[in-house]
Amino acid sequence: MVTNNNEDRKVVIELQDVHRDFIVGDETVHALRGVSFKIHEGEFVTIMGKSGSGKSTLLNQLGCLDTPSNGEYYLDGISVRRMKKSERAVLRNRKIGFVFQNYNLLPKTTSIENVELPLMYNPGISARVRRERAIRALEAVGLGDRLYHKSNQMSGGQMQRVAIARALVNNPAVLLADEATGNLDTRTSFEILVLFQKLHAEGRTIIFVTHNPDIANYSSRNIVLRDGKIRSDEMNDNILSAAKSLAELPPSRDD
Ligand SMILES: Nc1ncnc2c1ncn2[C@@H]1O[C@H](COP(=O)(O)OP(=O)(O)OP(=O)(O)O)[C@@H](O)[C@H]1O
Ligand SMILES: [Mg+2]
Repeated sequence: MVTNNNEDRKVVIELQDVHRDFIVGDETVHALRGVSFKIHEGEFVTIMGKSGSGKSTLLNQLGCLDTPSNGEYYLDGISVRRMKKSERAVLRNRKIGFVFQNYNLLPKTTSIENVELPLMYNPGISARVRRERAIRALEAVGLGDRLYHKSNQMSGGQMQRVAIARALVNNPAVLLADEATGNLDTRTSFEILVLFQKLHAEGRTIIFVTHNPDIANYSSRNIVLRDGKIRSDEMNDNILSAAKSLAELPPSRDD
């Protein structure tokens, strides 16, 4: 049962007045202009906003792939800015799973090898365990029958699933996804959404960037960005079931 009662839950992510400026030639782009929020353990947050509003820039901050020009980011109470680069890399690897907008899979490489990749940075994990965990993650996303397919031998939805399995293989507490359903047809989008709701029900914290306003109905909270600032931040007390919506979809014309 998903609840919006955050009072007793731990704060996993806290942003305090985060700014991110990009200097391009003589111009400065203010991609984030003072973003503050707290995200508690077990929330499923969608982030929306027009193209260029700062969604990916924000997600990159949260994923420790980039650092603020100004302001603070606390992950589990620790200031990310004050960490050394190497500490940040370890924290990112252990705590955060990141699903990129364009999958970012290695080309001509099998699903298993792509999913094993984040485990390579962990010397405590043997080759055998690495393989087992990759297989388990691929099974969890419904790709148990595509273990040895290469990325160029799969559909967009399947590649997206490999990217999700790769994000899950370290069993991260926080899962960040940038347009994880962006290039997919309606049915496949719902299948991916079912998967995210399942991960949410298992207790993971999810932050899901999307262009599609309908998806906010399936999350517990929706943050809308405009010009690098928060325009609205609302809880959703009536979370729809993606599995139910999937079952109710009219059959596709090819069925
Ligand atoms: N590395 C960069 N260098 C310079 N400007 C950048 C860089 N990354 C982003 N920007 C600028 O920052 C602004 C926010 O970009 P961002 O990619 O965060 O938008 P977005 O909301 O993710 O858009 P979309 O929906 O199109 O993916 C844009 O104006 C963009 O041009
Ligand atoms: Mg983007």
